[in-house]
Amino acid sequence: MAGLRRMEYRGYDSAGIAIVAAGRLAVAKKAGKLANLEAELDDRHLPTSHQGIGHTRWATHGAPNDTNAHPHVSADGRVAVVHNGIIENYSQLRAELGEAGAEFMSETDTEVAAHLLARELAGNHDLLGAMRAVVGRLQGAFTLVAVDAEATDQVVAARRNSPLVVGVGDGENFVASDVLAFIEHTREVVELGQDQVVRISPSEITVVGFDGQPAEVQRYQVDWDTSAAEKGGFDWFMRKEIFEQPKAVADTLLGRYNDHGELVLDEMRGISQEDLRRVNKIVIVACGSAYYAGMVAKYAIEHWTRVPCEVEVASEFRYRDPIVDPQTLCVTISQSGETADTLMAIRHARIQGAKVIAICNTNGATIPRESDAVIYTHAGPEIGVASTKGFLTQLAACYLLGLYLAQVRGMKYSDEIRLITTELAGTPELIQRMLDDADRVYQLAHELADQNDFIFLGRHVGFPVALEGALKLKEIAYQHAEGFAAGELKHGPIAIIEPGMPVFVIVPPAGRDQLRDKVISNIQEVRARGARTIVLAEEGDAQVASYADELIWLPHVSTLLQPLLSSVPLQLFACELATVLGHDVDQPRNLAKSVTVE
Ligand code: M6R
Repeated sequence: MAGLRRMEYRGYDSAGIAIVAAGRLAVAKKAGKLANLEAELDDRHLPTSHQGIGHTRWATHGAPNDTNAHPHVSADGRVAVVHNGIIENYSQLRAELGEAGAEFMSETDTEVAAHLLARELAGNHDLLGAMRAVVGRLQGAFTLVAVDAEATDQVVAARRNSPLVVGVGDGENFVASDVLAFIEHTREVVELGQDQVVRISPSEITVVGFDGQPAEVQRYQVDWDTSAAEKGGFDWFMRKEIFEQPKAVADTLLGRYNDHGELVLDEMRGISQEDLRRVNKIVIVACGSAYYAGMVAKYAIEHWTRVPCEVEVASEFRYRDPIVDPQTLCVTISQSGETADTLMAIRHARIQGAKVIAICNTNGATIPRESDAVIYTHAGPEIGVASTKGFLTQLAACYLLGLYLAQVRGMKYSDEIRLITTELAGTPELIQRMLDDADRVYQLAHELADQNDFIFLGRHVGFPVALEGALKLKEIAYQHAEGFAAGELKHGPIAIIEPGMPVFVIVPPAGRDQLRDKVISNIQEVRARGARTIVLAEEGDAQVASYADELIWLPHVSTLLQPLLSSVPLQLFACELATVLGHDVDQPRNLAKSVTVE
């Protein structure tokens, strides 16, 4: 239970355990926070055991309730399994198992693994052999951990594209998604490689590949203390979440398009393709960073679909008698899925007859529940109040939605869509490159720590990025920061520029030369008035370099997708500046992670 408590940051909508005692499984699971499971265990006295598995859940398939909580147990009661990740081909497997007579208790993708394991065990495999046979049938990303009631002193786990580490103890061994689960017992760790299976007993650790070949493993010592480990070695959840963005974006894109360049958005089922073809206007409503993601979406959606698209701050929407009717598609964006302003806006839109699509990171939250369809971002729990991976995955989901609308409405051929999805698929690697350069941005934060006013400029999709950069700085560094459309500057705001004032400018990539040239002119305008220009520009853009006091290079990506990269250094800058200034980055004053009042 102590281990589960430290894993709760990864998911906290339900929790459960399964232990093996006297050749039987004992299982307890409960919806809600871990405290609910603890209360359940206070009432129910499970037998003593030293062999078991546990899980805290961040729901992806199936609402967060007792039944969908892990572990999932096979129909014969012999095997229990917990799972992180998504089994992408679970519906085919479920149909196949159903035809063979399996009855499913939950709505999860995980339960197929329990049934498959039981089938393999009945076919005379041991647990390790059964796990190897099962993972061969699964597609997607997963960590699976299982116990077999008939296999005393054994836990078996498998890993593909999801973390799994082994804690090497003295007469005891552990597996977990993160060392912090067992850090109080051991700091000696073996990290499993891709496509490996491990069997632990109190005295042995056996690691093989999915192909059964013995795997070479290396042990290492973790030097975190327990409190740092909770943040995965980072000083702040926010910084950790910034660094999780390559994976979060990749997970959000995973399984959403096929090799033929077709978008496959299963969760759209509440809105038919016919509904989407009838739409004559799109209205995006959201708050804060999610609103800025919506501003980026407008550029992409209008460009790809030619359907007029409005973006509105949710708190303003319903109070101005907006023109919404059954041909309007309302898109709402919310990390938490519980923001009251956004919820009220979509209720209003639905009353006017609009269909609502939610882009949300929280399975089963109110906003997706009250929407006609949902596209979940798979960022995992976002704990830092300042949205980072939440924002980037919202961008990714908005691009997917824009492409899906273009596909359904016949505005793009599949090979055109495939070009864009291929580029999107490459962005996690480019985001990682931005993160690898974090030290340069940190140095800048130290140099500018004595400044109190910051300006952010951008055009086109760079404009919402400028607003987001300024918001991050206000939220956590408590500095005066303003974002402007670069072309608006000369219509007033340029009056506030003073010598030495830091001005961040986001320059569009080459290929949109007219746009880029105009931004270059804007850089010169502020520089002429003494501003210190910090320019985010495409790698190798020599012309821009000559106008910049400081340069932050961005890898090449097409204009519409550039916010996925240009946002990252601004997040790093805000996080570092707030740290230098001694603020609590994760829990900034006056703010809450989820704003549930209007
Ligand atoms: O959970 P939501 O995405 O609906 O939250 C919306 C805003 O409250 C949120 O983005 C807020 O602006 C963040 N703290 C920004 O970092």
